[in-house]
Amino acid sequence: MSEQKLKIGLLGMGTVGGGVAAILERHREALSEKAGAELVLERVLVRDPRRPRAVDLPAERFTTEAASILHDPSIDLVVELMGGIEPARSYILEALRRGKYVVTANKDLMARHGTELLEEAQRHRARIYYEASVGGGIPLIRPLKHCLAANRIEKVIGIINGTTNYILTRMALEGSSFQEALAEAQARGFAEADPANDLEGRDAAYKLAIIAALAFRRRIAVEDIYVEGIAGVAAEDIRYARELGYAIKLLAVGEELLQGLALRVHPTLVPATHPLASVLHEFNAVYVVGDAVGEVMFYGRGAGAMPTGSAVVADIIDAARTMRSRIKDGIMETTFAPASVLPVSRLVSRFYLRLQAQDRPGVFAALATAFGEEQVSLDMIIQKRSEAGTAEIVLVTHDVIEERFNRAMQRIEACEAIETVNSVFRVLE
Ligand SMILES: NC(=O)c1ccc[n+]([C@@H]2O[C@H](COP(=O)([O-])OP(=O)(O)OC[C@H]3O[C@@H](n4cnc5c(N)ncnc54)[C@H](OP(=O)(O)O)[C@@H]3O)[C@@H](O)[C@H]2O)c1
Repeated sequence: MSEQKLKIGLLGMGTVGGGVAAILERHREALSEKAGAELVLERVLVRDPRRPRAVDLPAERFTTEAASILHDPSIDLVVELMGGIEPARSYILEALRRGKYVVTANKDLMARHGTELLEEAQRHRARIYYEASVGGGIPLIRPLKHCLAANRIEKVIGIINGTTNYILTRMALEGSSFQEALAEAQARGFAEADPANDLEGRDAAYKLAIIAALAFRRRIAVEDIYVEGIAGVAAEDIRYARELGYAIKLLAVGEELLQGLALRVHPTLVPATHPLASVLHEFNAVYVVGDAVGEVMFYGRGAGAMPTGSAVVADIIDAARTMRSRIKDGIMETTFAPASVLPVSRLVSRFYLRLQAQDRPGVFAALATAFGEEQVSLDMIIQKRSEAGTAEIVLVTHDVIEERFNRAMQRIEACEAIETVNSVFRVLE
């Protein structure tokens, strides 16, 4: 970096890249002052240079050749906003090997190959920043790494997928069906054309892997995270949960227990009084409990061009300042030991259950017996409605270890009087 200029190579200028370019343009002088150098968008890699862009840049700035950025020694900083694993991973490795600093918003890549990239950065005395990879514009990475460093973090609980939160909010507030809410999320740009990663909870699991690593100072394999999506949440569940004093949210939960880490993503009944219950629509939030600070919640827009661009530009400024200060201390994440993650069967939860049973005497007793034989105690059991000889029953258990609950469920499914088990969700305390 020259004393006056930081030259940036942008890999990708779609939604987030457009936001980054717009912010750099809008606050050019103030940002340069904060960074200590003029921030220059030197070259931009895209697939199709003729496509219209959110910000007009001279045509010669665009390229389809990654090498013209990665091999240019005058480019100090590479900002990866292409998404996906390859070629993004190879491009970032190449940039780091050449000593360039890297900023990325790519959660899939950081969750799957973060350790490799961080180690490569360390090896070449470069750096990689990834604030935008979780929670869009919400500051999360830096607070977990630095601002909460004094704490032993006990748990992190996040609503970190905007698409699913939007769908569950529409179902709760408007009484929409899952399909109607999904169609609306797509029409309003909150859900991708192929929303499977969001709906099945994988996107939230990637983000949980990233924040849990920082919270608990461990290397986390995404495959170790238990994942359940929201496809099984019906309008009735949302209604009944509300009657019982809960909202249903897709939560990403990380906890440090005595025996190891508990890491899971699943639809959860959240008490209406919990701050996470009031996180609505496309908003995200991460609730952290630290032994010194107590409860903290980070809240805001988890996606979108400008919120995500805000986090990316903050990383660019941080990178510029670090380059200028010439402090080359190590990257702390590379010292993390692998996590010991507990199987979900060993975790303790309360459960909500909705089922259809024959509407005849003795059904409640049969349910109580099946649970009782596995020593699962019930907090409440309610008959919601009865139609054509079938009763809809909702029940909530007290705390139970999951393997015991699963054995009770096998007994219940074998009961002659039980017609269908519609939904089973965990309940947050
Ligand atoms: N969108 C959000 O709100 C959001 C929020 C948080 C994090 N993120 C993350 O930010 C990253 C970017 O997301 P986005 O929504 O901005 O994606 P996007 O709109 O699809 O933009 C991707 C950009 O990368 C370019 N590109 C993709 N593959 C390429 C290749 N092989 N060679 C050259 N250029 C290539 C595309 O070029 P063309 O324009 O020519 O097609 C496009 O400009 C992803 O990692 C995403 O997970 C996004």
